[in-house]
Formats: sequence, C-alpha cells, structure tokens
Amino acid sequence: MADLATTYLGLELRNPLVIGACSLTMDAKGVKKCADAGAGAVVLKSLFEEQIRMNSSGLDNSLAAEEQWHSEVFEYMEADIGMQYGTREYLAVVSSCKESVDIPVIASINCVSAEWWQEYATEVAAAGADALELNIAIMPETLTVTSEEIEERYVQIVQTAREAVDIPIAVKLGPYITSVPQLILRLRQAGGNGSVLFNRFYRPTIDPNKLCVTVDNPYSSPAELSVALRWISLLSGKIATDFSAATGIHTGLDVARALLAGARTAQICSALYMHGLPQIGRVLDELEQWMETSGFATVADARGKLSQHKNPGSELFGRCQYIKGLVGLE
Ligand SMILES: Cc1cc2nc3c(=O)[nH]c(=O)nc-3n(C[C@H](O)[C@H](O)[C@H](O)COP(=O)(O)O)c2cc1C
Repeated sequence: MADLATTYLGLELRNPLVIGACSLTMDAKGVKKCADAGAGAVVLKSLFEEQIRMNSSGLDNSLAAEEQWHSEVFEYMEADIGMQYGTREYLAVVSSCKESVDIPVIASINCVSAEWWQEYATEVAAAGADALELNIAIMPETLTVTSEEIEERYVQIVQTAREAVDIPIAVKLGPYITSVPQLILRLRQAGGNGSVLFNRFYRPTIDPNKLCVTVDNPYSSPAELSVALRWISLLSGKIATDFSAATGIHTGLDVARALLAGARTAQICSALYMHGLPQIGRVLDELEQWMETSGFATVADARGKLSQHKNPGSELFGRCQYIKGLVGLE
C-alpha cells in the first residue's frame, strides 16, 4: 500500500490533504469531523485583524466601522456574520480543537498590517496552535501606493510574526502579485516556513437585471488549480519553503497534480461544501490508487517530479501566452 504520510512546516501529517480555513473548521466539533473523515491537518477559520483591532481599541463590535475595513474582510464578515470570533473566543477555539484531535491544528490570522496583533499571535501559539497561517491580502487602496510598498508590508507582517512566535509560519497569498518568486523568497528570508498558493477571494460581479453589485459563486472549480500548479511547479526546489496548493483541489488526482508540481500539501474547501465531508475519504482513496498505479511508494517519491527544478528544459509553466499551444508543445 502506498504511504501517504508527509511533512509540512516541520509537522508530521498522515496524508497531504489539509482542510483550508473556512467555516467547516470554525470550532472543535467541525475540526473533529474533518479529522474523523481522514484529514491530514486543518487550518482553522481565520481570525480577522480587524477583529483584534476592534477589541483592543474598544470600537463598537458592529459593521458600523465597515468603511475602514479591507473589502475582503467585509465580504467575509457579511457572509459569515453569525460566525465571527472575538479574540478571546478564538484562543478558546484553538485549545479546544487541539484537545479534540491528534492531527496538526494550524491557526489562521487574516492580516493587512504588521501592527495590532503581534501579542495576539503569541497568545495563539500559547493556546496550542501547531503553526500559524497568515492570510495576507492587501488591496492597493490609492493611486500612489507602489508595488514595492505593498510587498514591503507583506515582509513586515512576516517579520513581526516571526519575532512573536516560535511555531512555524505559513503565508497564504492571493494570486494578484507581480513578482511571485521574489516575494516568496523575501517571505522565506523574513522567517516564513511555508507558502500557501493561492487564496481565492470573494468575487464581486454585477447583476444586470437588479442593477446591483453582488457576489459570484463562492466555490471554486477544478480548472482554477492551474494558477497554483504554475507557481509551485516553477518555484519548488528553488526556494526552501514548504508549498501548499490551494484553490481548485477537488479530487485525489488534483492532489496528485499538486504533489507532482512540488507541493507538500493540498488544501481543500469548496469540494467539501459541494459534496460533503465524505469527499475527504474519496480524495484520499483516489490519491492512494493513483500512487499505486503510478508506482509511487511514498508521497516524497512523487513530490516535484514535474517541477521546473527537476525538468530544467521545460517551459510549459513558464509561458504566459498561447503561441506554443498553437504551434504544438514539444
Ligand atoms: C465559506 C468560506 C469561508 C472561508 N473563510 C476563510 C477564512 O476565514 N480564511 C481564509 O484564509 N480563507 C477562507 N476561505 C478560503 C478557503 O480557505 C480557500 O482558500 C478557498 O476557498 C480556495 O480553496 P477551494 O478551491 O478548495 O475552495 C473561505 C472559503 C469559503 C468558501
């Protein structure tokens, strides 16, 4: 039988399937269900920096201050309004989740600045989190802010977190970054141990009949995995960070794709909302079957097989345009 065990952020996982931060992992009950269904690890639903900021400044805990908030936060808040944590409550969630399962529990903080939450990160670690995932999503708010300034904020956030905690840190990024390689390298140098590529933001759309802005399908499709595969394949083996593929992982073969690109783990959310928690078992069965048919005895045997690092001549993931597709790929 194929051995699905892997390591991620220095943690031992029984398999590479990680449940991504979402409402399925918002409390010990949900986390236990995921573990019982076979998950290798869980990322808890994020605590939003805005929540920490509100608690420490004594602001009214309502959406009244919404205009000061990052738009993504507001959308999550609006969608999940019944399930937002207070900061104390989050610490209690971390410890109760740790007590209820024996798989790694990764806490998640959604942050847009390096202020406010340093002390809080220490408390999250003290509550027993095995690692911290920083979901950083900085929206360029003005016409004057430069790419360098924004990327510097990412780096400062990771430096601040590194000073605050000893546990491993992963950074979850969105795909809208100009130089993904350099930013990931800088985040590694700042003390990050892992890169989660990529977050899927809530997508606004326009209802042309009701003449209003509304939210598009909150769930991904498997086709969206291509973005993570490209960057993980290009960077794994070149930067000493643990990659976790996210967005578009729906099946065992999607996990296989992520491993072949060079990921250590693959995070899943949408497929669980769409098919229920038994999908975890189906994904793992399919992964194991694929490993056996392909002759991979361990996850490490498959990891990075199709990365550029191991296939230096391959340009497939490096091209942005279609010309090669039109004239035929070698
Ligand atoms: C209902 C819902 C809530 C989510 N909440 C969070 C969150 O609190 N923090 C976070 O980093 N990502 C959050 N996400 C994003 C997921 O963790 C994941 O990155 C994204 O859904 C892409 O993965 P998928 O294709 O498997 O769905 C949420 C997603 C959904 C659908």
